[in-house]
Formats: sequence, structure tokens, C-alpha cells
Amino acid sequence: MRTSESTLPVSSNDFVRAKAAGRKLSMVTCYDYTFARLLARSQIDGMLVGDSAAMVMHGHASTLPASLDLMRIHTEAVARGAADKFIIADMPFLSYRKGVAAALDAAQSLMLAGAHAVKMEGVDGHEDVIERMVGSGIPVMGHLGLQPQSVRAYGGYRVQGRSDESACEISRRARTLQELGAFATVLECVPASLACQITRSLHIPTIGIGAGAGCDGQILVLQDLLGMNVDFQPRFARPFADGARNVLDALAQFDGAVKTGTFPSPEESYT
Ligand code: KIV
Repeated sequence: MRTSESTLPVSSNDFVRAKAAGRKLSMVTCYDYTFARLLARSQIDGMLVGDSAAMVMHGHASTLPASLDLMRIHTEAVARGAADKFIIADMPFLSYRKGVAAALDAAQSLMLAGAHAVKMEGVDGHEDVIERMVGSGIPVMGHLGLQPQSVRAYGGYRVQGRSDESACEISRRARTLQELGAFATVLECVPASLACQITRSLHIPTIGIGAGAGCDGQILVLQDLLGMNVDFQPRFARPFADGARNVLDALAQFDGAVKTGTFPSPEESYT
């Protein structure tokens, strides 16, 4: 357990304090124990067990198939690897749109799995859920702009907030989230100027993804950050490593060593 002198956030309050202190926040997604162990050794401020697990880990075309069970299993694995890190779990598709009691049950399952907070997309229509969760001691993060769980309504993954009307709506929702007690909000795929304006108008931090440099923090899908994708890299997802190349190189070396008989060596064998 870290002490209050720690510089890394260990709770949702630390996120708000970081913004007040003008300190930027770094977040990545994480879905498994192995990466959680590595992230535990990093300075990354927070880990999101995102419903993007459905796409990144399970090959689905959207986040919609992420079930509560799937999110619980990934959250447990991440918490086993990095219990000291601040872990936020995504509430999956529709799990917070069937009434307060059902939403609380879902959040309970994720918190008992090891999450320290939950994230929900949007705000209109589930204000009561957010209020009750916050009042019950569950830190809530919002998610505005492109809400991937609404992909069917958008008809594709599109930048949001380009028209004046849509920009005003996103700003209004951000203020509502803050009023309801959310400790932070993700802003996904909105123009940088809008993200900047929302960020200035809130005292809770904004965590951007495809929302420009004016947000209080940034989040990336870990596999994008590591350059693990061989076919698609979104414009906003800078690869900070050539992960795919490194993995393919290692596999080629292993394959060669097996086929030339140089692996395993006597030192790698038991007498
Ligand atoms: O599930 C996810 O990966 C997310 C990020 C895009 C913020 O919600």
C-alpha cells in the first residue's frame, strides 16, 4: 500500500488533485496479468480495463460483445498483477441502462473483482445511476465524445462535436457529469479546440484519446501504444514501440533455432 506521500494517484481524489496541481495524467488500457505486472513497475497513473478487451483480446468488431463476466475476468487478472495501481473498469454495454439496482449489481461485481472505479459512456438517461453510485462510494469516470458502445447509432466510428450543436451537447454533458459527482471524464475523438474548452471549464480532469493535447491527461490502448497492430493504427494512436516487429523477430529467431537444432542448448537442458 502506498502512502499519501506517493506521487502516483492511488484514488479518484488524486486525479482531481493532479488537475488542480497542473500535473498531467497518463493512462493505458490493460486486460491481463502479464502486462499488469509490467505496468505496476511503470509511472503510468491509471489503468483502464476497457471494454475494448472485446476487440483487442477477443477479436470482435466492436465493444458491444463485452459481457459483465468478461469484464470481471479481465479486471481480476489485472488486479492480481497491479493491485497498487489505480484500476478503472468499464461498465459493459447496457449494464447501466436497466435501472439503478442492476447497475449497482454490475458495479459491485467489478469493484469486488479489484476495480477502484468504474467508467460509463454518456450521461443522459442514467443520471440516477451515476448519482447513486457516487453516493454509494463508487468513483465514476465518464466517457464523452465518441462513445464506442453507440457505434450502431453513429453508423461507424466518427469524430464527434464538429458541429456547433454537437459541441454544445458534449460540453453540457461534461458539466452534468461533474455536477453528478464524476471524478473525471474521457473525451474520445473530438476536435482539440472543443476538448480544450471543456477541459478549462471543468475542475475534474479530462482524459483524452484522439482529443488533442489540451486535455488534463491522455489514454491509449496499450497494444496501440506498443505498436502491436499489423493492419490498422488510428491517427491519434502514436506507437511508442515497434512491438509487432519485435515479436515477429523473436518468433523468427525461435523458429530458426529450433529448425537448425541450436535450441535448446546443453545449458537449457537437464542432465
Ligand atoms: O475501452 C476502451 O479502451 C476505452 C478507451 C478508448 C478510453 O474506453
